[in-house]
Amino acid sequence: MPKTYTQAPLPFMGQKRRWNTEFKTAIRQRFGDCHTFVDLFGGSGLLSHFTHAVRPDAQVIFNDYDDYSKRLRAIPVTNQILAELRQVLDGYPKLKRIDEPYRSRVLEVIERHDRQGFVDYITLSASIVFSARYVTSLDELRKDTLYNTPRHSDYDAAGYLDGLTVVRKDYRRLFAEYKDRPGVCFLIDPPYLSTQATTYTGYWKLRDYLDVLHTLHDTNYFYFTSEKSSILELCEWLDAEYQTGNPFKGATRIDNATHLNYAAGFVDIMLYKHQDQQERRDAA
Ligand SMILES: C[S@@+](CC[C@H](N)C(=O)[O-])C[C@H]1O[C@@H](n2cnc3c(N)ncnc32)[C@H](O)[C@@H]1O
Repeated sequence: MPKTYTQAPLPFMGQKRRWNTEFKTAIRQRFGDCHTFVDLFGGSGLLSHFTHAVRPDAQVIFNDYDDYSKRLRAIPVTNQILAELRQVLDGYPKLKRIDEPYRSRVLEVIERHDRQGFVDYITLSASIVFSARYVTSLDELRKDTLYNTPRHSDYDAAGYLDGLTVVRKDYRRLFAEYKDRPGVCFLIDPPYLSTQATTYTGYWKLRDYLDVLHTLHDTNYFYFTSEKSSILELCEWLDAEYQTGNPFKGATRIDNATHLNYAAGFVDIMLYKHQDQQERRDAA
């Protein structure tokens, strides 16, 4: 049996691991007549991987805009670096800031590998940079405070991309290629608005975010957002005030609340619409 991942094999901010169950259920139950799924904002490829797990018969296109595949290919080197760091930091107190002379030794290991080729700084960050922060280059790492929060087991991504068609292009080009074909469903998980998603490629302004709404017109889709983005409210308001049409009208909405502590949390939202579903509602 092929291995099914419930989360991306390497750290990736914004991966949709919390949607494992609901997403797969909806794909299975509502999109049985779709035979092509296009993951326009592939990120870590997790939605593509979920889709292939439940629909191995369908073509699943993973838009690897961030070149996550490169990080996956670098796993042997990443594991090697982490093994060397564990040696350097053997006996050093866990979860503590790494001070001299250990800091220089850690950087020496990484600099040596950097001279030899690609180093996956995002993944290394999880082991030596303060939690939930990521650096993307040696220069950034040199400027940062390092912490001893090592990972103990090796990373492994065997079979993760199996069965997927991997492409890398701007989502608009990919959308244009597939929008007029029958039996297509788009997976639409754009970057969050004005986030400090420094590990993503590019920076997203309101206009970019609104442009994505073009991909919802007359298509089968899954769309991911969060309550913070207010995009659903904006579309409802524009439709009510100016009859602009609301691309989310008729979509099924599922909320997923995460509580960080008793006072704070956030709500992630998944919407999906199958055009037949809409037509049936219109006819009723
Ligand atoms: C929220 S993340 C997607 C996460 C993904 N669904 C997952 O589970 O890992 C949004 C992704 O869109 C990518 N992106 C940014 N601009 C893009 C563009 N013009 N075309 C395609 N992808 C883009 C970002 O780099 C980021 O990887």
